[in-house]
Amino acid sequence: MNQKNKMISPSLLSADFANLQRDIEMVNRSEADWFHVDVMDGVFVPNISFGQPVIKFIKKYAQKPLDVHLMIMDPDRYIDSFKQVGADILTVHYEACTHLHRTIAHIKESGMKAGAVLNPHTPVALLEDIIQDCDLVLLMSVNPGFGGQKYIENTYSKIEQLDSMRQRKNPSCLIEIDGGVCIDNAQKLYTTGADVLVAGSAVFGSANPMDAIRKIKGL
Ligand code: DX5
Ligand code: ZN
Repeated sequence: MNQKNKMISPSLLSADFANLQRDIEMVNRSEADWFHVDVMDGVFVPNISFGQPVIKFIKKYAQKPLDVHLMIMDPDRYIDSFKQVGADILTVHYEACTHLHRTIAHIKESGMKAGAVLNPHTPVALLEDIIQDCDLVLLMSVNPGFGGQKYIENTYSKIEQLDSMRQRKNPSCLIEIDGGVCIDNAQKLYTTGADVLVAGSAVFGSANPMDAIRKIKGL
């Protein structure tokens, strides 16, 4: 059980790209903590989203940290360029990094917070020898690639395992959950051990996004 953090990182993947400035300013005014920015390469995941030029413009208006989730193969090639366009937190998939320790070290040397991401089928136990170096771990609670999918129930058990691993090895490591988060499952995710919840469609698909952000945070 972890009651210290109840943070939310709205995913801009579900924002209106034709009105991105408006949606960013809504998040600035809201109780949200970070901006979640999903980068997809069409190879690691079956979808393409956007890259550095768009992030540069997001940074121009965003008044909260950019939490950049890289769903791309060999992210090492682009770490410095994501720093340059304003990423504050950079997360990379365990499944996409042959030398994850080197990648995490590179992200931190570049001055960003570093996190490892696990797909739904990847066991938490595989983080045993890297969690001490991570500022955060992101557990995917859907298969990455698309917004608006259904939350995978097995994620609760993975949060419990990760929470006990971080208590042993790195208590300051944050746990972030991404995919299918909504008002109905948010409080259970926080009480199970999550610190940061990503929410795309539950925020931007709501008639009142600012209220949805408050409700997900339990305010
Ligand atoms: C999915 C992305 C998510 C996505 C979540 O691959 O990593 O961040 O935007 O969308 P929802 O909250 O709608 O499941
Ligand atoms: Zn994401």
